[in-house]
Amino acid sequence: MNVLVTGGAGYVGSHCVRALCDAGHGVVLFDNLSTGHRRAADPRAKLMVADLSDSTTLDAAFASNSFDAVMHFAALAEVGESVREPLRYYQNNVAHTIALLEVMRRHSVRNLVFSSSCAVYGVPPKVPITEDMPKNPVNPYGRTKLAIEWALEDCARAWGLGVTALRYFNAAGASRDATIGEDHRPESHLIPRILSVALGQAERIFIFGDDYDTPDGTCVRDYVHVEDLAEAHLLALTSRRQETFRGYNVGTGIGVSVKEVLEVAREITGHAIPAMVQPRREGDPASLYADPAKIKRELNWRARLVDLRTTLASAWTWHQKHPHGFDS
Ligand code: UFG
Repeated sequence: MNVLVTGGAGYVGSHCVRALCDAGHGVVLFDNLSTGHRRAADPRAKLMVADLSDSTTLDAAFASNSFDAVMHFAALAEVGESVREPLRYYQNNVAHTIALLEVMRRHSVRNLVFSSSCAVYGVPPKVPITEDMPKNPVNPYGRTKLAIEWALEDCARAWGLGVTALRYFNAAGASRDATIGEDHRPESHLIPRILSVALGQAERIFIFGDDYDTPDGTCVRDYVHVEDLAEAHLLALTSRRQETFRGYNVGTGIGVSVKEVLEVAREITGHAIPAMVQPRREGDPASLYADPAKIKRELNWRARLVDLRTTLASAWTWHQKHPHGFDS
C-alpha cells in the first residue's frame, strides 16, 4: 500500500513508519518537526516537512501520490500543557485533523488509522477499561481526541470513510535495535524520567502521590511496548472496513504501579535511582489499564512484549546509546 503518515517523525509514528517500510509499504511522511525529529524519520520514507494547516502542500502530496491510506499521528500530546493552552490543542489536534479529512475526501482516500488515547475515557468507573465504557475525558487533550473520534464517526457515515481509532495506553520502550526511541522535550513521562536519573542527568525521581486507592498507593498504568503498538497499526491498516468506525483499546491488560516501574528500573540499570514522594499531579486517575479483548478478537492483535523488564530494558539501551536523544 501507499500510505501517508502524519507525525511519522514522532515517538509512536516513527516506529510505525519503520514497521510499514519493513512490510514493504510505500510511505510518505508528513511532519512539521515541531515535536518530531528529523533523525527519527526512516530514510526509506519520503519526508515532507510541512504543517497540516498548509493545505496547498498537503493537497500536492495527495495529488502526486496515490495514497491508499492515511495514518494520522500528528498531534500535541501533553496533558498538562493542554490544560494551560487549550486553544493550541483544539487548533493542532481538531482543526488540523479536519483539514486532513477535507483533503482525504477530495482525493477519495477512505482508509484512516487514527492515533487516539485512553484519555478519552477520563476516570473510568472500573478497570480494566472496555471500549463500551463512558467517554468522559478530564482534560483538553483527551477532549480533543474524543472530538476527533466523533468527527471520524460522522465521516464514516457520511462519505464511507473506514476508520480505526487506536486508543493507546502508555506507550513505552524503544526499537529493539535501539536506533529509535522516546525523545520528548521537555520530558514528562515516567520511564524516561526514571532512566534519566540512572544516567546521572537528574538527582532523583519524584513520585506524584502515594496515597491513591491502589495496592501500593501509587498510580497504576498499562505500559505497552511501542513496537507492539506499531503492529496494531499495521493490522488496522490491512483489515479496514469501508464506512465503519472502529475504536480499540491498545494495551497489555496489565496494570503496573509507579513504584513497580521504579523497582524494575533499579534492577535493570543497577542504579539506586533515589525517589521522593511529592503531592499528586493534578488530573491523574488512580488506575488505568486496558481490557484488550476486542482488538484480540477482531484484529487478532495482542501485546507480545508484555514483560515490563523487556520494555524497560529496550528503553534503557536506547537512552544509554542516545543520552541526549536524537541529538546524541
Ligand atoms: N509520574 C511520576 N513521576 C514523574 C512522571 C510521572 O510519579 O516524574 C507518574 C504519573 O503521576 C502517572 C504515571 O507516573 O501516575 C505515568 O505518568 P506518565 O506521565 O508517564 O503518563 P500518563 O499516564 O500521565 O499519560 C499517558 C500518556 C498521555 C495520555 C494519558 C492518558 O502519556 O498521552 O496517559 O491518561 F493522555
